[in-house]
Amino acid sequence: MSIGIIFGETDSFRFKVALTNPKTARRRDYVKVWHDPEGWVLCQIVKITRSNEKFSEESVFENEVVESPGDKVVAHVEVIGSRDELGNLRLPMMPFSPGDKVFKADVQLIRKVLGLNDNGLYIGMLDGYNIPVYLDPNHIVQKHCSILAKTGSGKSYTAGVILEELLETGIPLLVIDPHGEYASLKFPTTDRKIERYNIKPKGFSSEVTVYSLPTSNNPDADKILRLDGENLSASDIVKLIPDNLTSTQLGILYEAVNRLKKERGQYNLEDIITEVANTQSNVRWSVLAKLEQINESGLFSGRPTPMHALFRDNHASVIDMKGTSPELQQVVTALVCERLFEYRKKNIVPPGMLVIEEAHNFCPERGFSRAVSSDVIRNIASEGRKFGLGLMVISQRPARIDKNVLSQCNTQIILRVTNPNDIQAITKGLEGITGNLVDDIKSLPTGVAVLSSSNIEFPIVVRIRPRRTRHGGESVRVVKYKSKKGAKKEGGGFFSKLFGTK
Ligand SMILES: Nc1ncnc2c1ncn2[C@@H]1O[C@H](COP(=O)(O)OP(=O)(O)O)[C@@H](O)[C@H]1O
Ligand SMILES: [Mg+2]
Repeated sequence: MSIGIIFGETDSFRFKVALTNPKTARRRDYVKVWHDPEGWVLCQIVKITRSNEKFSEESVFENEVVESPGDKVVAHVEVIGSRDELGNLRLPMMPFSPGDKVFKADVQLIRKVLGLNDNGLYIGMLDGYNIPVYLDPNHIVQKHCSILAKTGSGKSYTAGVILEELLETGIPLLVIDPHGEYASLKFPTTDRKIERYNIKPKGFSSEVTVYSLPTSNNPDADKILRLDGENLSASDIVKLIPDNLTSTQLGILYEAVNRLKKERGQYNLEDIITEVANTQSNVRWSVLAKLEQINESGLFSGRPTPMHALFRDNHASVIDMKGTSPELQQVVTALVCERLFEYRKKNIVPPGMLVIEEAHNFCPERGFSRAVSSDVIRNIASEGRKFGLGLMVISQRPARIDKNVLSQCNTQIILRVTNPNDIQAITKGLEGITGNLVDDIKSLPTGVAVLSSSNIEFPIVVRIRPRRTRHGGESVRVVKYKSKKGAKKEGGGFFSKLFGTK
């Protein structure tokens, strides 16, 4: 049964359909039209409009309209194409003819033309269809991936879904987790709705290790992350000191580090302390006190966490930095990622993937802010694929991430974004994005994403599947609601509710 007939002027890219029954078509539906010699051509409804001549602008203003006959409902359709015998996507050479019938597309045609895999990382369903969407794990890891959306749209949730799938493949994972959202990968979800998606709850308690910094007292942590503190630069050290140094103090520190670099090449924090202690200036004592503070924090130790423990097969390391200052987070990220990339280049650790939450804080766009971790992340984005180190960046401020990093991500998962600058930053890098899709991005419901990938022909909309593990990014409920009746009785001001002092 056809859903309607093509009318008016058509071209190779788009046409309009007079819908026989408005109830049979929805925006984003896939439809098909027969065309010689290609056969069935896949198309997509991008917009539906409704009009009524009796109520056109002129008639509403000029005539007093008394009756209300039926509306004209028109589907605006974009042509996706068909596969030729070599498997390439082709648009019809000639436009469709007005009068051609339009039908709902079948699952087989949708999958074939869009190039949807039938195995890989299972991330959800094609929106409006019962068609599972799989990502190619090699493509995701080797060619990098970004998850972008405004807060609360489901970024961390989606990242969790992909991490669950990657954990099943056994590929090493390292997660930079500024808010402590990924420790929950260890535990199965208690949400029973997930069975609808043909999946079962699962916890990855034996595969995931949560590391915290010695400076934070984190009950979720399995282990404390300790770094070797080798070849720290003077600016790394400055970042590790909470208060500002005077110019004389800075001078002593920079001179000491430079001397060590020149004379030894290889040095650690203890060496810097000795070098500063050996200077003549009286100011050295205050610098020493600050260096001792860093030493005592335990972040740098003689028994550092080995990289081959952090990054190994069938394992994910989550570096949970909840409660740590952004500067210290950046230094730790820089040091860990530099060492990881170096070891991957030398093949000391296996190929794998680095995941960075809140990436705008770790590799900000130049001009917005600076971070010591920027250089190494930029290098991994541009060269990581050569060495088998993949990158997943997650951010709520796409406009504020280094463009060089974003542009290297061959798979983009975009959930709801409303900020115009962020939309611009995202759409610049997207192929096949249309004005209608941009409108969609602004109004996507939570957990629904636009997926654009260099190995899927056309951006598609995916309902991200529920998590098998528990989601750790739940926002804290600051105000506890009670039923209206209870609230009246309770009395209590805003603050007592906020801080739970009642
Ligand atoms: N695919 C999904 N299925 C079900 N619920 C979801 C999905 N994605 C997000 N949510 C809900 O939305 C909330 C916010 O998602 P989250 O990933 O924490 O947002 P973000 O990281 O973008 O700020 C989650 O706590 C979860 O309840
Ligand atoms: Mg989040």
